[in-house]
Amino acid sequence: MSKNLIITIDGPAGSGKSTTAKLVAQKLGYLYIDTGAMYRAMALKTLQRGIDPQDKNAVAELANRTKIELKRQDSTLRIYLDGTDVTAKLRLPEVTKAVTPVCQVNRVRQMLVEQQRRIGLNGGVVMEGRDIGTVVFPQAGLNIFLDASLKERARRRHSELKAQGVEIPPEQLKKEIAQRDREDTNRDKAPLRKAEGAILIDTTGLAIEQQVDKIVSLAKSLSV
Ligand code: DC
Repeated sequence: MSKNLIITIDGPAGSGKSTTAKLVAQKLGYLYIDTGAMYRAMALKTLQRGIDPQDKNAVAELANRTKIELKRQDSTLRIYLDGTDVTAKLRLPEVTKAVTPVCQVNRVRQMLVEQQRRIGLNGGVVMEGRDIGTVVFPQAGLNIFLDASLKERARRRHSELKAQGVEIPPEQLKKEIAQRDREDTNRDKAPLRKAEGAILIDTTGLAIEQQVDKIVSLAKSLSV
């Protein structure tokens, strides 16, 4: 391909962002960036230091002394927190709980958005999150918003967790996801919403390959 695009993928929890973004990046030979993992790494540090995730000043101060790095190892993305690979810990339920207040701290967002812009500057990236099309790269070559029904998203999260040996009833997951939707959509800072001009893909009835192919075709039509 002649042009290295910036592709942004935003959407609510369980919309298939990570799997889709990873595969799109693989097919195009682009770098995959999971920005949620960066916020999760910050939340993990807060817990490790015994800091209350709701204490905005303490979290902001901690952010100034934190280094989060993304490294590609074989074909996977690893997240390093102050030099230690913490990838395996980022999806623990306590981290998921702590990330909601932590990602609303101004200093945390400012620091991570700057870093995300540096990483994506030269294009050739697929970056997924909540505010990538609205805040980080509104001028990206291709902005995508993925969505799916709440029921379908809870079903996906259930099978994902089950594969990791964690059994949480789908009804409980549905409640948790609905709660996170509310928090992500109604927060003051960088709320989750479709960027102007972004392409909406509802993945409820789609197989992963279908949504990946759709985005890859769009990217190819833009890069010739
Ligand atoms: O996509 P995820 O579940 O790993 O994201 C974890 C949390 O981080 C989620 O509650 C929303 C937040 N987040 C954010 O505020 N901005 C982003 N660009 C990515 C994630």
